[in-house]
Amino acid sequence: QDHLLGIEPLAPDEISTILDLADDYVALSRSDDKHTEALKGLTQINMFFENSTRTQASFELAGKRLGADVMNMGLEASSIKKGETLIDTAMTLNAMHPDLLVVRHPHSGAVDLLSQKVNCAVLNAGDGRHEHPTQALLDALTIRRKKGRLHRLSIAICGDIAHSRVARSNLILLGKMENRIRLVGPPTLMPSGIGELGCEVYEDMAEGLKDVDVVMMLRLQKERMDGGFIPSEREYYHLYGLDAEKLAHAKDDAIVMHPGPMNRGVEIDGTLADDINRSVIQEQVEMGVAVRMAAMDLLARNLQARRRDGAA
Ligand code: CP
Repeated sequence: QDHLLGIEPLAPDEISTILDLADDYVALSRSDDKHTEALKGLTQINMFFENSTRTQASFELAGKRLGADVMNMGLEASSIKKGETLIDTAMTLNAMHPDLLVVRHPHSGAVDLLSQKVNCAVLNAGDGRHEHPTQALLDALTIRRKKGRLHRLSIAICGDIAHSRVARSNLILLGKMENRIRLVGPPTLMPSGIGELGCEVYEDMAEGLKDVDVVMMLRLQKERMDGGFIPSEREYYHLYGLDAEKLAHAKDDAIVMHPGPMNRGVEIDGTLADDINRSVIQEQVEMGVAVRMAAMDLLARNLQARRRDGAA
């Protein structure tokens, strides 16, 4: 691949290749010397047009551990605030010869559009409701390491599916790896065309979580609700907030996941989120650095090969 714009174009063996390399980077990141020279001499620019804690910090750390020169372009201080377009901004940065461009943008498709205008590898750090590929990859790595496999698992994705790029990328990835996926949440927060997604849909948490191996909780993404129906948080927690009582319907060894940022007492009980016997939320954050190292390493290898061949 030239870019990482989504999970959709990835074949199962390409997903496994990224996860295998990420496993090596987990080991490196746990060692005393966390550095390699895989991206030595290369320049990585992070452009975040939407807020981020986990994704931005882990991409920055990943680039630094790989030996790249890393620059974070802050939206607040950029000329976007003076009316410069996304494409003009990207073309300006492209003229500085970056090798990797990491982009988060509120509009679905914006990162794809940008990738067509620059001559470096572009990684999608989340675009609107469309995709968040490195999140799905880090979730997959977490599941594979905790469950010992990434196939034939029963996985419930719960909450605000309609507005979630995390749910979309996970649905695609986990489906490609032949897992059984359930979507659980109120009908108002389910996407249209759900019948085509090839997963089971539940309105009731007790039914949806019955005997699953993995419970993935999602935040109410009010920023993407466009003035539509927003449930009351108290009622939502009562019906859909994950607590020990609802989790008891899942398998005894089911893991609890959340991509963050988490709203305690809305989609998940705070005590459960902190329960290291069930919650793998901190492991997800750790896997995020390793997966981003792997994705950037592999893209940089492809870019350098294309440059040697004169195709980039
Ligand atoms: N999961 C995730 O994308 O978190 P951030 O918005 O903090 O990057």
